[in-house]
This record gives sequence, C-alpha cells and structure tokens, in this order.
Amino acid sequence: MEAPYRDLLAEARGLLDGEIDGIANAANLSALIWQRMSALNWAGFYFRKGEDLVLGPFQGKIACTRIKPGHGVCGAAVQSGKTQIVADVHAFAGHIACDAASNSELAVPLRKNGRIVGVLDLDSPKIARFGTDEARCAEGLADVWVAASAL
Ligand code: SME
Repeated sequence: MEAPYRDLLAEARGLLDGEIDGIANAANLSALIWQRMSALNWAGFYFRKGEDLVLGPFQGKIACTRIKPGHGVCGAAVQSGKTQIVADVHAFAGHIACDAASNSELAVPLRKNGRIVGVLDLDSPKIARFGTDEARCAEGLADVWVAASAL
C-alpha cells in the first residue's frame, strides 16, 4: 500500500482510539477520508437495519436513506460479502445514482463477529478512481471502525 494510505490508516486508528460509539466513529472517519483522499464526491456509511441498509454519517451531497437487499453497489457488497470496485457506475446494472456527479465507486462490507453490519462507501467523479490500493486502504479503514466500535 502506498505511504499516504498507510498514513491514513494510522491516523484513523489514532482518531478512533478510545471511542466505542459507532456513530461518532463513523462520523469522524467519514470526515477524515473526505479530508485525506482526493477526487471524492461522497464518503460515508450505511448500516444494516433488518435487511435494509440505512444511511449513516457521511460527507458529500444528500444521499438515498434506505437501500433494499441486493440493490446497488452497496447491496452487492453486502450480498457478496466482498469489496466492490466499480470503475464506471454507469456500466453497473442496478447502480443507485445519489449524486449525478458520481462516475466510480468503492463499497466495502463492515464485518463484525462474522456478520455484515454495514458498508463503507466512497464515490468519485473520476472514472476508475479506485484500484487495489484504494480497496485495501478502505478495507483497512472498515476494520479500524469495526475494531473500535461497539455498534
Ligand atoms: N451508489 C450507491 C448508493 C449510495 S450513494 O452512492 C451514496 C449504490 O449503488 O449502492
């Protein structure tokens, strides 16, 4: 992983250290990602409530509040249990367009005690903004949130 992403992970660990509130941690982590990663137009969290994903803390424009199972890039991350790297959201069947400026997306499932409790979602106006390095970094950030938070 490139040095700026390693630094971001270290900063995230420090930021969440000692706080167990999942919402507070998601709010600060969204803000940190927003400040440190370039070319983003949305960074934030969805949490699983029942079967749906419900909007959590984020940075960026207003977003859809509720995502049904299997819908969109976020739903695919939950259903597959795998990180979704979408180079061109317009080519992704079922993509949910919250901000028309979004062209690429990265969605990482949050796994706590073997259960997927939510998704960390990043959007970019740049096509193919997210690659393997960004995915590993976002997975690391998701792990930092899971390790710190008692949600
Ligand atoms: N595009 C997402 C929906 C959430 S927003 O990007 C904030 C999706 O397809 O799941």
